[in-house]
Amino acid sequence: MQILDGKKAAQAIKDELKIDVAQLAAEGKKIPHLAAILVGNNGASETYVGAKVKACEEVGFRSTLVRLDENISENKLLDEIRLLNTDPDVDGILVQLPLPKHISDEEVINAIDPDKDVDGFHPVNVGYMLQGLPTFVPATPHGIMLLLQHYKIETAGKHAVVVGRSNIVGRPMSVLLSSNTNPGNCTVTVCHSKTNNIKEFCLQADIIVAALGKPEFVTADMVKEGAVVIDVGITRMEDPTKKSGFKLKGDVEFDTVAPKCSWITPVPGGVGPMTIAALMKNTYKSCMQKN
Ligand code: GUN
Repeated sequence: MQILDGKKAAQAIKDELKIDVAQLAAEGKKIPHLAAILVGNNGASETYVGAKVKACEEVGFRSTLVRLDENISENKLLDEIRLLNTDPDVDGILVQLPLPKHISDEEVINAIDPDKDVDGFHPVNVGYMLQGLPTFVPATPHGIMLLLQHYKIETAGKHAVVVGRSNIVGRPMSVLLSSNTNPGNCTVTVCHSKTNNIKEFCLQADIIVAALGKPEFVTADMVKEGAVVIDVGITRMEDPTKKSGFKLKGDVEFDTVAPKCSWITPVPGGVGPMTIAALMKNTYKSCMQKN
């Protein structure tokens, strides 16, 4: 079994970006600028947005963090997005999800200028992705494709089983893995909460992408010998022995599954850092397209 080290692969991507940004600065050109909106103070969202801002600093991007109160009205949030849409200095906008219940994700995503939608969630960008046209690909599936590419994982002709059908991960992941690209060219099965006998599908998989948000859902009896296992899950579980009070659990029971795999991602240190590296790449691309 070998580890798909997302921390290492992400660092390689960030190192390249850092050089590109230094070059832009040396030429007196515009530096990429990411604006992140965080509504409320969900602990996990705070951590993710913090990591995104930190990554911007690392590669030399500008970043702006817009913090808004949990009780902000949807209209006020939409106003904030419109301000960023029209700010010529801002290249990328992301609104950290989940949002409070009184705010519609759909309205918010639709309000972001598709040319600044570095999360790739706007229906216009999802449409481009579906057609295999250049666009902003959602950061987590994009990061997973970059990880497969980094480790030269053979995907053509393989059977990939994606567990989960979210707009953020499962659906775009199934599109990318089945695209006529490298990595890609997989035969893809999407399993979800209403799938009968998920185990039978997983056992046929050469590649499993677990993205359902249920800690340790994928167990050793569900995995074929030699499979590649990508774990997107990252759930906080209470653990009084930890300083933070919690530990992170993936959707895969790592200790029992790992011995059966050819390659597997750890949690943390697998998909998470790749998501951030992909977001940085999208932001750089947005800046290049505008300038
Ligand atoms: N919440 C969980 N993943 C993501 C992501 O990739 N982007 C945003 N904006 N919110 C998220």
